[in-house]
Amino acid sequence: MTRTLIVGSGFVGRAVAARLTDSGENAVLASRRPPEAATAPWIPLDAADAASCARAVDRVRPDRLVLVHGPSDVTWCEAHPERAAALHTAATAHLTAAAPGCRTVLISTDNVFDGSSPENDESTPTAPANAYGRAKLRAERIVRETADGTVLRVSLVYGWEPPHTTKWLNYFSACAHRLRRGEPVEAPDDQWTTPVLAADVAAVTAAVLAAGAPSLLHLGGPDRISRAAWAEAVADGLGVPRSLVVRVPKALGRYASRPVNTCLTSDRLEDFLAARGLRVRGVAEGVRTLLEDAP
Ligand SMILES: NC(=O)c1ccc[n+]([C@@H]2O[C@H](COP(=O)([O-])OP(=O)(O)OC[C@H]3O[C@@H](n4cnc5c(N)ncnc54)[C@H](OP(=O)(O)O)[C@@H]3O)[C@@H](O)[C@H]2O)c1
Repeated sequence: MTRTLIVGSGFVGRAVAARLTDSGENAVLASRRPPEAATAPWIPLDAADAASCARAVDRVRPDRLVLVHGPSDVTWCEAHPERAAALHTAATAHLTAAAPGCRTVLISTDNVFDGSSPENDESTPTAPANAYGRAKLRAERIVRETADGTVLRVSLVYGWEPPHTTKWLNYFSACAHRLRRGEPVEAPDDQWTTPVLAADVAAVTAAVLAAGAPSLLHLGGPDRISRAAWAEAVADGLGVPRSLVVRVPKALGRYASRPVNTCLTSDRLEDFLAARGLRVRGVAEGVRTLLEDAP
């Protein structure tokens, strides 16, 4: 059986681990601290430390590597641009060096684009929007130089995360928890995204890991939607008044360092998924699915 080492036990890494283990595959999560709710066995790893990477690879002996670690907070990266770049670059270099020949998938971001175009496919020239995008682009270059690497650029990922977590919640969870408590949410009506369900990101990552994937793929959901319209869709699903969603310009809120458009498209991915009987769900279906399954 193949063994997959997933570096990063956060929101996306745990979804990928759950998908692989649910399919009967062997997956191991790794990060500096144990996750609150592990979806697979976990081992300690500091990806910024070459010796720690070598030890983890020696212990797991993976055939496949998924790089899905932080720093993932765009605002933190903007405040610490050199550390963000050094961490993403070092982590990717250490791990790909420790596991040469390993099938490697890097989960990258739409922030490698400046947001001036409403949509970006794989042929769009990169122009990072911020320090986070610059750091991820440097990591991408390392993976694309490996023998068997794929960079999977993913748009905003959403799903349930517990409200008590100390980290910045994904947008769906942040809105849904507040709206369920009857609290207002401030939502930019001038920032656009193509959101993807975490479960769909995990399914696509598993397919990309398996074989025959191109070296660069974009994964965005089928709907291009503003954060405000998305928050209103969550309010509708919860049956709470839309007036709880307060439309604000992005420049005034916590999303100021995001590009205007964080939207990804891909004919290449559509062909890849169609050949494997997979599809990516849109916002209405995704929100409905999550609310039916609300914790
Ligand atoms: N969430 C999204 O919408 C989205 C979209 C596109 C791309 N991505 C990419 O997916 C990745 C993960 O995102 P996420 O939302 O899952 O983030 P997250 O929930 O913040 O998880 C990040 C994980 O990385 C680990 N980590 C941080 N520094 C590490 C280090 N030096 N060594 C080992 N592990 C380290 C963290 O654990 P410790 O701090 O305990 O080590 C945590 O488990 C990021 O690289 C991001 O660029 C995310």
